[in-house]
Amino acid sequence: MSDIIGIIHSEHGTTMRVLARLEKEIGRFERGKRPNFELLKDIADYFLAYSGQCHHPREDVLYDALAKKSPGAAEIIGDLREEHEALARQAGTFADGLASILMEVEISRPAFVAMARNFIARQKHHLALEEKNLLPLARAKLSKEELEEITRRAEDALSGYGACRGGKRLARALEKASQE
Ligand SMILES: [Fe+2]
Ligand SMILES: [Fe+2]
Repeated sequence: MSDIIGIIHSEHGTTMRVLARLEKEIGRFERGKRPNFELLKDIADYFLAYSGQCHHPREDVLYDALAKKSPGAAEIIGDLREEHEALARQAGTFADGLASILMEVEISRPAFVAMARNFIARQKHHLALEEKNLLPLARAKLSKEELEEITRRAEDALSGYGACRGGKRLARALEKASQE
């Protein structure tokens, strides 16, 4: 099994594919076509449940350990944590906007598209920061044994979360849909 850095990196790969699919569906909506609403609902769930309740808490376990080991990393970790909260709020706004469209409440199409594009850009920016700065730093500062221990701790902390199990199923389904 990969260690926690490998798991997070692989989840980022999944998230990038989900974002690409989201972009495609938002593009359809923008052009006045009917997007795949079922898929959009699953994508909203992916960000609310899987990113919010599984991926980010897993990162928090790694970041806590890294902040203790490397005080220089504390600032960037603080920013990333704040971003997790902002991203969770934005995922909620996206899900609410989608629910309004599905209930046929009149909402502005350009406003929804702009909000979704903003969410996509912010997700990508966050993910790039983690991939470029945080994960390599964690790899450099934490020993193999420390990473094994952190991986175990994170998996124990998350094992009770249905969101992680359900999220994995959802991620697989979305990955399949993204290839269609
Ligand atoms: Fe993150
Ligand atoms: Fe992440």
